[in-house]
Amino acid sequence: MIELGVNIDHVATLRQVRRTVEPDPVWGAVLSELGGADGITVHLREDRRHINDRDVKILRETVRCKLNLEMAAVDEIVGIACDVKPDQATLVPERREEITTEGGLDVAGQFNNVQKIVKQLKDVGIVVSLFLDPEVRQIEAGIRTGCDAIEIHTGKYATSKNPQDISDELSRISEVGVMVVGAGLRLHAGHGLTYHNVLPIAKIPKMLELNIGHSIISRAIMVGLKNAVQEMKQLLKNF
Ligand code: PXP
Repeated sequence: MIELGVNIDHVATLRQVRRTVEPDPVWGAVLSELGGADGITVHLREDRRHINDRDVKILRETVRCKLNLEMAAVDEIVGIACDVKPDQATLVPERREEITTEGGLDVAGQFNNVQKIVKQLKDVGIVVSLFLDPEVRQIEAGIRTGCDAIEIHTGKYATSKNPQDISDELSRISEVGVMVVGAGLRLHAGHGLTYHNVLPIAKIPKMLELNIGHSIISRAIMVGLKNAVQEMKQLLKNF
């Protein structure tokens, strides 16, 4: 069965807006697991804009399902990953000014560095995934690094409006998916997936893991807001 990794970065984003202690992503991870998540995904960015070192440490102690750490291919974060030892690390590109991870990792352009980091992480027992655009050149290079999995970036599929563009992008993702599976690697996908667009991606043969954040956290606010207001009204009812 396909595994769902829930990306809880946005729980921490909301906390950081006020630099306070709530909402706590650790609580978000517990609720996600209770909801059936197969994995908890967090991105420890170099600028610590949402998830921080404390979160990653506590999540390592508390998450019972797979802990997947998204990370840039840089020495500081590699050191933390080797120390904390998530079950899986997903190497992603990172630019400080971006709103979210905007493209796949340019593994073809920095092959030696990525290959070295893949080995460092694998040597301490971490499963390594690379987040790549559905481009043959990148997938070929990714396979050569010795990684365990490739997560295909579905952002372009998710933002395409025209049915032909959506179908073309789906074909591109399926085609590179065949290459990943043929090389004996795990096939993952993620970015921009929602309740409306996830099924065609889930149907791709041998798709093993989907990582979804924004849409699930957005929906959580909507399905939980009524209860939260009722609880506050209840607290105030005698005054
Ligand atoms: N997969 C990767 C590698 C990502 O960087 C992200 C965003 O942090 C996601 C999945 C989740 O994307 P979204 O929040 O759009 O569901």
